Amino acid sequence: MIRVGILGTARIARALFTAPLQNATIVAIASRDQAAADAFGSEFGIPRRYGTYERLLADPEIDAVYIPLPQHLHCEYTVKAAHAGKHVLVEKPAALSSEEVSRMNDACRTNSVFLMEGFMYRFKTLIRRMKEIVASGEIGTVNLINLNWCFNIRRVQRGAFRTDRSLGGGCMYDLGIYGIDFVRYMTGREPEIVHGTLYRETNEGADMMATVQYDAGGVTAVCTTGLLTDANFLLLGGSLGSMTARAGLAGNMVENRLQVHLLADNSLREEIFPAENPYVAELEYFADCITRNISPHPDGENSLQNLRVLEAVFARASERKILV
Ligand SMILES: NC(=O)c1ccc[n+]([C@@H]2O[C@H](COP(=O)([O-])OP(=O)(O)OC[C@H]3O[C@@H](n4cnc5c(N)ncnc54)[C@H](OP(=O)(O)O)[C@@H]3O)[C@@H](O)[C@H]2O)c1
Repeated sequence: MIRVGILGTARIARALFTAPLQNATIVAIASRDQAAADAFGSEFGIPRRYGTYERLLADPEIDAVYIPLPQHLHCEYTVKAAHAGKHVLVEKPAALSSEEVSRMNDACRTNSVFLMEGFMYRFKTLIRRMKEIVASGEIGTVNLINLNWCFNIRRVQRGAFRTDRSLGGGCMYDLGIYGIDFVRYMTGREPEIVHGTLYRETNEGADMMATVQYDAGGVTAVCTTGLLTDANFLLLGGSLGSMTARAGLAGNMVENRLQVHLLADNSLREEIFPAENPYVAELEYFADCITRNISPHPDGENSLQNLRVLEAVFARASERKILV
């Protein structure tokens, strides 16, 4: 059993307790506030509860940490965890810049610990099936990806850091990073920005909506992400057909449906995937990699590429103001 500690009583960390873990056990929780650690610990039966993140990192009975802190703290605590000899599963985005990810990779390499960025969507049966269909050639040569990945932050409870630029807020860090990762994951090619637009409410504010067009070795990918709507959709178009899934990236434990349209006979097939918990599957995979001493994917090099693309988007996309 891999012994895991969690840094921060984050909302997303709760997803790890909705199904039993097979090869890992969460033995410690840390918060900036001892009372919050105690409350979270007693709610989920976590035995060790710390009032600082550093105290958890100093616990020798912990093999790995899960870091669901706001984006601006990912680098700092990954580096500290690595120096404390802990493997790190860090939430997306891995960090705020490629320079930060390089420091994280160096720290993990130096201390012989693994680093993995938390792209839970890769652990969904639906997404794996989409990748399988692409590889099978059933929809022909894929030449189009259309990804909409948004939520309306005014209508759902989410950490305020998401709209604070100084804390790594903004939809590109929060959701746009998925588009970059998804395009590479599906095509096996590096997404390069063609053009894009970031929408902010004020000049100093975080990006609230963004549309970016990438080219991934001939595949056109149009990725819209945002914090002002909940329109979510995935489409992959190929020379022989296409496939679509509503809210395909979502980690919610709901049934997923994939529609596959084939040009040859104009058929439309629906595949249904029962509700599952990708967060638990992700942590189990990470624990398995640690147990077997094999490098996990997505690894730190993948994170580095993600941040390089994101930096190119920030550098090249035009900025517009929106009225909401
Ligand atoms: N993979 C996914 O599907 C997914 C989904 C949602 C979020 N995420 C990622 O997970 C991370 C956490 O997101 P969340 O929505 O769970 O956030 P959240 O509920 O606000 O939790 C963040 C935690 O970080 C700690 N923290 C430390 N410094 C903070 C600060 N200055 N402001 C706010 N919190 C601070 C807090 O824990 P203490 O007060 O206990 O110290 C807080 O509970 C983010 O990186 C986000 O991108 C991933």
